[in-house]
Amino acid sequence: MRISVFGTGYLGATHAAGMAELGHEVIGVDIDPAKIERLQRGEVPFFEPGLPELLRKHVDSGRLRFTTDAAEAAEFADVHFIGVGTPQKKGENAADMRFVDAVIDTLAPLLTRPAVILGKSTVPVGTAARLAARVRELAPVGEQAELGWNPEFLREGFAVEDTLRPDRLVLGIDKAHPGRVEEVAREVYADAISRDTPFLTTDLATAELVKVSANAFLATKISFINAVAEVCEVTGADVADLADAIGHDVRIGRKFLGAGLGFGGGCLPKDIRAFMARAGELGVDQALTFLREVDNVNMRRRDHVVDLAAREVGGSLKGARIAVLGAAFKPNSDDVRDSPALDIAGRLHLAGSDVRVFDPEAMKNAEQVWPTLNFAESALTACLDVDLVIVATEWSEFRELDPMALKGRVTCPVVIDGRNCLPTEQWTDAGWRYIGLGRHAS
Ligand code: UGA
Repeated sequence: MRISVFGTGYLGATHAAGMAELGHEVIGVDIDPAKIERLQRGEVPFFEPGLPELLRKHVDSGRLRFTTDAAEAAEFADVHFIGVGTPQKKGENAADMRFVDAVIDTLAPLLTRPAVILGKSTVPVGTAARLAARVRELAPVGEQAELGWNPEFLREGFAVEDTLRPDRLVLGIDKAHPGRVEEVAREVYADAISRDTPFLTTDLATAELVKVSANAFLATKISFINAVAEVCEVTGADVADLADAIGHDVRIGRKFLGAGLGFGGGCLPKDIRAFMARAGELGVDQALTFLREVDNVNMRRRDHVVDLAAREVGGSLKGARIAVLGAAFKPNSDDVRDSPALDIAGRLHLAGSDVRVFDPEAMKNAEQVWPTLNFAESALTACLDVDLVIVATEWSEFRELDPMALKGRVTCPVVIDGRNCLPTEQWTDAGWRYIGLGRHAS
């Protein structure tokens, strides 16, 4: 099929390359000429394992190209995906719909032949119905320009795998104008469907809500275990053992019960806030007030690590030398949007500590957000002569650090394991004071 993908960020660029891998002819569209130039050269402007190889393969094969020209995409493709961002509005919980609206307002008037638009961006419920009507109104082909909603569930760090082998496909259809949307989507995803991937069709509102509900549930699961971690901390219980034990119940499951610094990134935090804001607009704010608590528990974890750090360096953070290992919001990503790791590094810095940050991939992005932090060349350099080490992102490089060798570099062998990811015994055996979150301190 001939496909266009509007937006070439983490979602759009991966989706474009993934669609080319599935055998489609793809054109990626973005308003940022610098980004398009790099992608057209086969370069991925962010870190995502496996994506550079996939992108280069299909740019070279000619099946994938990039442009800033929406008219070129409208002319070329029969299916148009929307993969632009819906960030949190400044000073508000609601999602900023500017970029999605701009794609529709640009693309729809250019549709002179039948086309299907499939939205992938995470949007407030009600958006798709509004956009479907707008497309019909603006498109020269009128009713033959159709819109469906096809939410994306990919995880950063596993984005290629999630795109090529999704665990489910969800398609929201405008029930009053069903048209060709399902038929076209089934053709796009024929490969996954042939492998018996569940393909669920719903109305537009349900599809939009599936996405935010999934992220709200994941956020709630993480905050649940972090709330229990708070209780563990005052009772001497161990939250990691507890999570293992309850996780054996298949109704609960062990995944996303990793207690620690909590969730960050470009999705979970803003999605729960936008969901609350939308519920408020719809007059059912009480239904989601628990998400406010989910958010509060999450943010408290960061305060807690800063408090622990102050305690461990003798009460005052001023002048304390602290290594923060990790800046990305999770490993295998260079994304620092709402990163708990970078947040605590910044707070310790503002409190007067001499903070040295190292991250295997996110240094450039972290430096843009916090240019006044000290960035070290390696984990070992960051830890030289420090009073405290904080592991804030669970990169395997940090999990595999040799605690014995590291002990010789620091002033005080104290580590806060902000992700409960270190082999505790090895660190304590090497003579470190080990502090996990929700776990006994050694
Ligand atoms: C999330 C969802 O997992 C995807 O399904 C969804 O498609 C995506 O948002 C999106 O909306 O686009 P992602 O933001 O890549 O994916 O990250 P997650 O793997 O969900 O992790 C989010 C945060 O939770 C990270 O900061 C991670 O460190 C934290 N986390 C995760 C925990 O603190 N504990 C856990 O047990 C698991």
